Amino acid sequence: MADKITFSIIKADIGSLCGHHVVHPDLIEVARRKLKEAKDGNKIVDFYVTNCGDDLELIITHRKGEDSEEVHSLAWDTFCEATKKSKELKLYGAGQDLLADTFSGNVKGMGPGVAELEFEERPSDPVIAIMMDKTEPGAFNLPLFRVFADPFCTAGLIIDKSLHSGFIFEVMDVKEHRLVRLNTPEEMYDLLALIGTPGRYVIKKIVRKDGLPAAACSTSRLSLIAGKYVGKDDPCAVVRAQSGLPAVGEVLEGFAFPHIVAGWMRGSHHGPMMPVSVKNAKCTRFDGPPRVIALGFQLANGRLIGPADLFDDPAFDTVRLKAAEIADYMRRHGPFEPSRLGPEELEYTTLPEVLSKLEERFEKL
Ligand code: F6R
Ligand code: MG
Ligand code: MG
Repeated sequence: MADKITFSIIKADIGSLCGHHVVHPDLIEVARRKLKEAKDGNKIVDFYVTNCGDDLELIITHRKGEDSEEVHSLAWDTFCEATKKSKELKLYGAGQDLLADTFSGNVKGMGPGVAELEFEERPSDPVIAIMMDKTEPGAFNLPLFRVFADPFCTAGLIIDKSLHSGFIFEVMDVKEHRLVRLNTPEEMYDLLALIGTPGRYVIKKIVRKDGLPAAACSTSRLSLIAGKYVGKDDPCAVVRAQSGLPAVGEVLEGFAFPHIVAGWMRGSHHGPMMPVSVKNAKCTRFDGPPRVIALGFQLANGRLIGPADLFDDPAFDTVRLKAAEIADYMRRHGPFEPSRLGPEELEYTTLPEVLSKLEERFEKL
């Protein structure tokens, strides 16, 4: 165990500058200070702090394995400390994702989102941290399916013998809290039958057929934890690349189509996923449209070398333009479905309260 490295992304929305659109730089400073202390004390190997929209993202490497109480408690304390700053500045939604009062061993189920992957570091190991704002974990289903199972995206599935036998997808049913493992390419249609419903079935992990860990995603649904709408879950994922895994460019190619996801304004609308640079990860128009950023690192004995801001590339301009056009088109529907989410998805928002007021005015026919 000791020689393996764990790449953890732990994130939370604990307040934004001016609404719900971007993390204040002071919160990033607080998080850096906390994590540097932990690094100096040899509790973690390395860290990088960033934000995707209003989500504070802690990227941490360590040798304590997935679900380590020590690492989760460090992340929790960091979010609590940053929340103090957030409250001092009276930022909007200060502390909103910290759903519990005290830490109880693992941040999962307490509000923050977690994606963690433990693996043996290869002689050269490119790892990509992919983070989204204004959407739900199932938003990763389509792009990650394309990256790891669709040869029209990943050429290596056909022409590289080490990818040719395919991958195993671990899919979580977030409503029933259960998990199923499906092999691709053999069970591709079964996989799609599930993950085509991204509000319920969510890719949790992807492993190469020989057991090599390839990717992990956060799966928490805040509304299912809190029983009411408390913001969308704004997921993150760790994806390894190259040398028998999809190339970095094949991973990014999975995001070259602005697919429609649930989230956006009030977590209640469908909108296009726009891949952007970190500096453009701020959800302005109609609190969106939803954004995705990708930071590429090399690992050097767990040290994080980089990052490279991978969507900061004119090659993605047409994707962004298409996303902006789709945003225009969707907005023209105003409050009508399918721009607004369907009733099942709106169950945890403020809409049921509005509808219940009308209940007594209905006349029986
Ligand atoms: C989406 C999100 C925002 C808010 C919206 C209303 O995840 O957080 O779109 O839902 O800005 O926020 P309140 O109700 O706090 O005014
Ligand atoms: Mg927010
Ligand atoms: Mg957010």
